[in-house]
Amino acid sequence: MSISKRRFGFTKDGREVTCFTIDNGKLKAEILDYGVTIKNLFVPDKSGKPVDVVLGYDSIKEYEENDGYLGATIGRVGNRIAKGKFTLNGEDYTLAVNNGPNHLHGGLKGFDKAIWGSEERENSIIFSHLSPDGDEGYPGNLKVTVEVILEENGITLNYSAETDKDTLINLTNHSYFNLNGGGSVLNHTLKLNAEKFNVGDGDCLPTGEIASVFGTVMDFTKERSIGNGVDSDEPCVRLSRGYDSNFILNGEGPAAVLKSERSGIIMTVSTTEPGVQVYSANFLTPRRGKNGADYTYRHALCLETQHFPDSVHHKDWPTCVLKKGERFSSKTTYSFNV
Ligand code: GLA
Repeated sequence: MSISKRRFGFTKDGREVTCFTIDNGKLKAEILDYGVTIKNLFVPDKSGKPVDVVLGYDSIKEYEENDGYLGATIGRVGNRIAKGKFTLNGEDYTLAVNNGPNHLHGGLKGFDKAIWGSEERENSIIFSHLSPDGDEGYPGNLKVTVEVILEENGITLNYSAETDKDTLINLTNHSYFNLNGGGSVLNHTLKLNAEKFNVGDGDCLPTGEIASVFGTVMDFTKERSIGNGVDSDEPCVRLSRGYDSNFILNGEGPAAVLKSERSGIIMTVSTTEPGVQVYSANFLTPRRGKNGADYTYRHALCLETQHFPDSVHHKDWPTCVLKKGERFSSKTTYSFNV
């Protein structure tokens, strides 16, 4: 196991960005302190050759200039909050609106754009960030940490947070996975431990309806190719130009298994979160990625483990309220085998 670091570059406003490399001889991850971004994740394929299974860029300039949150940590609240408005303890709050009429992924300057503090451990790095009271409109000074652990066969993200005033929290990682290292992701197969999903509207905001996946292209209870369904007329898929929905996890066993026959790589996602946003990179506009790679839409699958979108407006769903004096913690592991 080795951990090393190097200067990755400087942001437009002159802040230094560091790239950490964690290597256990089998897996190798490169993590930026900018957004606690997973820049590379090398995993051996069926012939033992390392494949970089996440999309990313070679320079900090590209991370700053491009949209899509490639590899980044998302907060305070991942996914959408309707109209960027909510009421907590009788007080009304207004957040930045950055996705049609709604608030998405923490706002205009979410956790993905912060430079986090870092502390190296034996096989992990603990990243920490202080989001001040009023940040993007959210109440409370929020202390948040993400520990990135390189396991023997995977990577674990341990999230925790504390606040000095009741607030909202829903942390995730926005890695774009492609188990062939590039190209269309539609030939990958997916299995989800989910029998229900949140029905979304034209802005991908939950309508409140929770629907059964059975008999629809949302049914991934048995392993199925992503390509088979991505162009269907299922309203949630059609409105989002592909998969972009929260699936409600059954609670026992891994949340998701993604496979590529070509590389032989199998990724298993386990989480303490109640949901996972399955997003087939429908809005990934054509762009240049690492090592001159061409990325375009549907070139990756994001599996964003999370609380349900807009849960602040749905009393019966698992709450994303973090109370003063309580500690938020959540854990997601992506493990790999062939
Ligand atoms: C999430 C959203 C998508 C999109 C991506 C980032 O997956 O649900 O609609 O915003 O993030 O582009």
